[in-house]
Amino acid sequence: MASNISSVLEWPEPIQRVQELANTGLKTLPPRYIRPTNQVSANFDTTQAPPVVDLSSFDQSMKDLLSSACKEWGVFQVVNHGIPRELLASAMDVSRSFFELPMEEKVKYANDPVSYEGYGSRIGVKKDIILDWNDYFFHHLRPFSATKDYQKWPLQPVDYRKTINEYGERVFSLCKRLLDIFSEDLGLPRGSLLESFGGEDGVGACYRMNYYPKCPQPELALGLAPHTDPGCFTAIFQDQVSGLQVNKDGVWFNVPPVKDALVIILADQLEIVSNGIYKSVDHRTAVNGDKERMSLVVFFNPDGNKKIGPMEALVEKMGSHVYSEMSFNEYRMFIRTLGVAGRTIVATRFTIAGGAAGTIQ
Ligand code: OGA
Ligand code: NI
Repeated sequence: MASNISSVLEWPEPIQRVQELANTGLKTLPPRYIRPTNQVSANFDTTQAPPVVDLSSFDQSMKDLLSSACKEWGVFQVVNHGIPRELLASAMDVSRSFFELPMEEKVKYANDPVSYEGYGSRIGVKKDIILDWNDYFFHHLRPFSATKDYQKWPLQPVDYRKTINEYGERVFSLCKRLLDIFSEDLGLPRGSLLESFGGEDGVGACYRMNYYPKCPQPELALGLAPHTDPGCFTAIFQDQVSGLQVNKDGVWFNVPPVKDALVIILADQLEIVSNGIYKSVDHRTAVNGDKERMSLVVFFNPDGNKKIGPMEALVEKMGSHVYSEMSFNEYRMFIRTLGVAGRTIVATRFTIAGGAAGTIQ
């Protein structure tokens, strides 16, 4: 069924590059980007922020901090994670350089809503939605079979492929280490979460570099509308410009840039395998009037074909399944069709599993 849906997906209208729009020097925000006032980013709390976990001194107090972050926030930052600062800087450089290429060059990589690989400016094919103030480039990192000899990766700047390959591999290793920490925290054997997501050779990783140009009326727009990430979890390296916000118990909080830190966002599949013990966090991005912003995002995803459901050991302990099983390929088709839809995806998951999936056709 998934292939039927894929073959009919196309963008519902011509794609407007946000960078191009911003470069016209416009003074007011075009209506397509204006959010209702109850959705804008101005209202957020700065009295709290997600915990910062030091992985170099990973003692009991750090374990407790990380555990409560996963359960209460669904997000934390990691420092001393082992990825060299020079590599972070060069990954940021090559990614930024891509967006500095002439538009004729960038649009050669224009993406489509079936694979999403390439240069994009929207998510979902629903017509007349409010648009995000964001351009991005998306491609696979793993499994290696999915990168198809890097065909979809930028050829420029010339050191892009080498740098992002190395960056992706280092982040992937960190993700495996985090998965073991999560397994232990949930009282599961080491390696069991990686196994449940498809094992080292089956799991996926994707790279998305986000570019948020300066925005003429930033208080009316969002860089990315509120959403949860569909995969297992996400590692974000943000530049020094604030913008990422997370929702905790109905209140939005800023995730302040911490030098050389990665932000770890727990996502839907981790909430599902943990049977709801961990939280997939709602997040969004604010944009700026006087500064552009970049973020480098690695999504760690399950094997697309494997059925993912709550871990049996946790179901036994808790006495019930909170979520039913679905493969990640089936799951992400909802998002690719309907666009990001906040928490509704996880919330309805139990009821939409199985036959009802056909309703999105
Ligand atoms: C994303 C995302 C946040 C950011 O790409 O899914 O949430 O800070 N990005 O750009
Ligand atoms: Ni996200």
